[in-house]
Amino acid sequence: MSTTDIGPKGSATKAGGAVVGHVDHRTGATTGIGWFLKRNIPGETSWFQTLGFAAMAVFGLQAVTGIVLAMYYKPDPTTAYGSIRHITNDVTWGWLVRGMHKWGASAMIIVVFLHMARVFIFGSYKYPRELTWVTGALLLIMVMFMGLTGYLLVWDQKAYWATVVAMNITASAPIIGPYIADILRGGTTFNSDTLSRFYAIHMLVIPGGIATFIGLHLFLVSKLGISEPPWSKRSTRARRAEEAAARAAARQRGPRGRHEVTVDPEPQTLTAEAGQ
Ligand code: HEM
Repeated sequence: MSTTDIGPKGSATKAGGAVVGHVDHRTGATTGIGWFLKRNIPGETSWFQTLGFAAMAVFGLQAVTGIVLAMYYKPDPTTAYGSIRHITNDVTWGWLVRGMHKWGASAMIIVVFLHMARVFIFGSYKYPRELTWVTGALLLIMVMFMGLTGYLLVWDQKAYWATVVAMNITASAPIIGPYIADILRGGTTFNSDTLSRFYAIHMLVIPGGIATFIGLHLFLVSKLGISEPPWSKRSTRARRAEEAAARAAARQRGPRGRHEVTVDPEPQTLTAEAGQ
């Protein structure tokens, strides 16, 4: 019995418990949430391993500020720039929300790069986390595309010409380049549909993709557990013990069997199931 079971329960607590019990009985939500949140992590986990969550937090902020901006933005070549000016100058706290979204875009790219650098330096992309890396790489591409598609939406001279250049670069890529540029522009040249196409991609397509891939990424992180830092004393001890065992086995076999001794090429990995 846990301490929460002690004493009489109020009617609100009882009703809440009944609702949670009802939903849990039919969905198994408590088990799922417990599996996701209650995990063992390596003893030497540090601030470096919080960068992935920081990226997720900035994405959440971009989603919220983006929704507010979408309530005032008008994705039409004749009205887009005016609506941006209206948000900045007239709407209450519009300048703040727009500023947060604009600076948040740069912050997200910086944080994602820092997270990727830590994964690379720690060697966390190695077995068994290759797919976590691949889903992460796809996330990086999508985050960059968010920057490209969002930049045009301001619809001023800088945004317009910078995107014209980006589309020309895209179109110059071999074989598929011209097709991708045509799809993005909604034709062979920049036209009135280009802005609404970029808006739809920026508002719906990529955020949907990013949310899906963050889900996959987190599933893999939960399933495989967070990797130990390279300086982990536990993994150094485990590796030394393995090497010592391999040497002892080689000594026992004598000079003739020595060439048959093999060391497991896969490093010991930490899994949530193993509870290490
Ligand atoms: C929107 C972008 C991203 C988000 C929201 C995100 C989120 C996360 C989170 C929350 C974690 C667990 C905590 C941590 O290790 O920091 C994680 C781990 C990981 N991420 Fe990302 N990530 C993103 C981009 C990337 C990129 C670009 C890569 C590499 C190309 C990547 C590769 C990995 C790997 C390999 C792990 C496992 C690390 C370990 O086990 O120690 N992620 N990610």
